[in-house]
Amino acid sequence: MKIITTIKEMQAIIAAQKSQEKSIGFVPTMGFLHEGHLTLLNRARQENDLVVLSIFVNPLQFGPKEDYAEYPRDFERDRALAEGEKVDFLFYPAVEEMYPHELSVKVTVQDRTDVLCGKSRPGHFDGVATVITKFFNIISPTRAYFGKKDAQQVAVIEGLISDFNMPVDLVAVDIVRENDGLAKSSRNVNLLPQERQVAPVLYQSLQAAEAALHEGEQNPIKLIEMIREMINKETNGEIDYVQIYSYPQLKPLEKLEGTIIIALAVKFTKVRLIDNTITNID
Ligand code: PAF
Repeated sequence: MKIITTIKEMQAIIAAQKSQEKSIGFVPTMGFLHEGHLTLLNRARQENDLVVLSIFVNPLQFGPKEDYAEYPRDFERDRALAEGEKVDFLFYPAVEEMYPHELSVKVTVQDRTDVLCGKSRPGHFDGVATVITKFFNIISPTRAYFGKKDAQQVAVIEGLISDFNMPVDLVAVDIVRENDGLAKSSRNVNLLPQERQVAPVLYQSLQAAEAALHEGEQNPIKLIEMIREMINKETNGEIDYVQIYSYPQLKPLEKLEGTIIIALAVKFTKVRLIDNTITNID
């Protein structure tokens, strides 16, 4: 595995590989890799000639009061895990390399961001779309891999690729969970021990709502209330949102039909967790 820190070198390597018609699977991350990321890397390994992993904690997608400074980082551990997944190139640029000066152009996401995390994190998805646009220009991936835990991010990137005619296939990969159901996340390490114990109720509440939905409960307000009650009963976390929308359009639904997402975010002492389930209703 080769570690690359400059855009120039990364682009030169990609140009050489592309001239040999190699397919490139790209997994963008902010590091502190967990099994969810390893699943993306594994899938990329199976489907492409080359795998490029990026590790970059992107300041542009963090609000002024968010956890940019506290975001967990451990490059040596990540490097070993990436080697274990047979990554070919690890792109690890510094902030000054990606943003040497104030950007004169940023990507603004106009749709799918006025709800869920976009609503409580203004500017977050503009930061994500901007860095992903830069990465796609640097790495020219054949396929890019994203986890469905960040379902709104997947919806936004789907829009970005489609609206800007980017020649990349988006591969959205199922959520990887701990044995007790908690969605794997780099941020889980920031849960207090007592919070970690009760955090699986997030997924349990989504499962309960999904079961009720498939048993015929058609009222989104009741489903949302069911989830809120379960979380409030088990945890001291502060519910940021529990919502149900069409997916990937993320529009409110008069009637629960088609593909829908039930999504939630809960703030704990030092960390805010998200989870979701995406389901089809005939
Ligand atoms: O999902 C993440 O880790 C980040 O939002 C991403 C896609 C790497 C962009 O910085």
